[in-house]
Amino acid sequence: MSVNVVFVCLGNICRSPMAEAVFQHLVDEAGLSDKIAVDSCGTGAWHVGEAAHRGTKQVLARHNIPYNGRSRQVNAADMDPDNYVVAMDDSNMRDLKRRFGDHPRLYRLLDFAPNTNEHNVPDPYYTGNFEYVYQLVSDGCRGLLQTIRAENKL
Ligand code: 4NP
Repeated sequence: MSVNVVFVCLGNICRSPMAEAVFQHLVDEAGLSDKIAVDSCGTGAWHVGEAAHRGTKQVLARHNIPYNGRSRQVNAADMDPDNYVVAMDDSNMRDLKRRFGDHPRLYRLLDFAPNTNEHNVPDPYYTGNFEYVYQLVSDGCRGLLQTIRAENKL
């Protein structure tokens, strides 16, 4: 593997698992599965070991994207300076910086999304709008893959 990508949200049951699944699907479609490894985790530990939220599972199934990961909490290995660490919102960014310090490749997913003015992926755990989150995540993941391909000549 030449590139590691880790998506981070708060609980690792709604947004970052969705991003992991969508991004993995794009990587597979691009034939880059042996070059790019994809994972996700949460800043919090409340849901460790749990499957993704029903809303995330439903929206992924509707779009024919598989996912069967389990929630886990972020650790120091996730913050390897060579990894792309991709947070869902500013709060996740702040939590990661507070706990691990500055990171050279810490990004917000929607900074790669060309078709929205949103900067933070709204948390569907509270909004219930998983389809809207899917559209944002999908837009961000497409842009992120383009960037990673360009930066790593893939
Ligand atoms: P996520 O959503 O960060 O997108 O996985 C949440 C899931 C659970 C909680 C908060 C956000 N919670 O407080 O339990």
